[in-house]
Amino acid sequence: MYSKKSIAVVGAGLMGHGIAQVFAAAGHMVTVFDRDYKALSTLRARIEDNLEDLEQDTSVVKNVFPIEDLRECVVKADVVFEAGPENLEFKKTLFEQLESHAPKHAILASNTSVMPITEIMANLRTGYRAMGTHWWNPPYLVPLVEVIKTKETDSNLAQEMFDLLTSVGKTPAMVEKDVPGFIGNRLQHALWREAIALVAEGVCDAKTIDTVVKKSFGRRLSVLGPLENADLVGIDLTLAIHETVLPFIDRTAGPSPYLKKLINDGHLGMKSGEGFRKWTPDEQTQLRQKILKHLKAMNIADQQI
Ligand SMILES: NC(=O)c1ccc[n+]([C@@H]2O[C@H](COP(=O)([O-])OP(=O)(O)OC[C@H]3O[C@@H](n4cnc5c(N)ncnc54)[C@H](O)[C@@H]3O)[C@@H](O)[C@H]2O)c1
Repeated sequence: MYSKKSIAVVGAGLMGHGIAQVFAAAGHMVTVFDRDYKALSTLRARIEDNLEDLEQDTSVVKNVFPIEDLRECVVKADVVFEAGPENLEFKKTLFEQLESHAPKHAILASNTSVMPITEIMANLRTGYRAMGTHWWNPPYLVPLVEVIKTKETDSNLAQEMFDLLTSVGKTPAMVEKDVPGFIGNRLQHALWREAIALVAEGVCDAKTIDTVVKKSFGRRLSVLGPLENADLVGIDLTLAIHETVLPFIDRTAGPSPYLKKLINDGHLGMKSGEGFRKWTPDEQTQLRQKILKHLKAMNIADQQI
């Protein structure tokens, strides 16, 4: 049994409240700071709603403590997770404050989606205890957390984080080098780049791209990773496919002009009602519900397979 820790979370938004929930549900004490009072005042209710939806014990919300002062939130913490805005200057300044407010032994972790952890932690004197922990949305349903080491990160502390995450039911993955996008988002956006290129070239429309992914290799992805798949079909076949196809895969260094044009036309995605495709409010709600339902079913299936 892993000893109970004092966990602090900075940022009570979409990711922060879910991270707090994971540790509270595992019996850890979790303090949460946000500069927005509303984010703090609604924190426990949002966690309770998630737990109810999962048909889990809602009383664990008593382990979550919204705190209005950053120093007070982290002063006794063993581990601090930052889940504030995706802004480099914000994160750099915050970690300098965390370094001085949190106890000397505390591990400091950023939940940035893609920013190099080395840059975020550049001004720290104790960079050995700083690392990335990249959770996926929603944190209480998606198993993976990437643990990202910088050149400064103490490997024992990264392993301690890995073990802590395992103990609360997550599936951590150790990222040995701090590369932008880490592992998951690099893979995901390599696929998105090609998807956008195929639409831009007129090979098919956006809906067809999504159908192809969802109804083919997407079906297998949660039980068959790409390199397992290469081993399954054979490395010789993989080489032959790559010799034929790779020369034609998009390799534009930078965002697609197609993406920029969508933005210039005001097509920002669901929030503006149209991106690659048009979305009514009902369609948006249905898709969000479908994702949650699917993620819950996948977690049940994981236990059965
Ligand atoms: N949303 C995702 O799918 C996702 C996935 C993985 C990682 N991330 C990363 O996690 C981080 C948080 O993302 P999110 O989606 O939860 O954002 P969010 O906007 O939902 O939450 C951010 C919270 O930070 C608070 N905040 C703003 N300024 C602050 C300050 N000075 N001090 C403390 N809190 C402050 C905001 O009030 C807000 O509650 C970002 O770095 C993001 O890139 C997001």
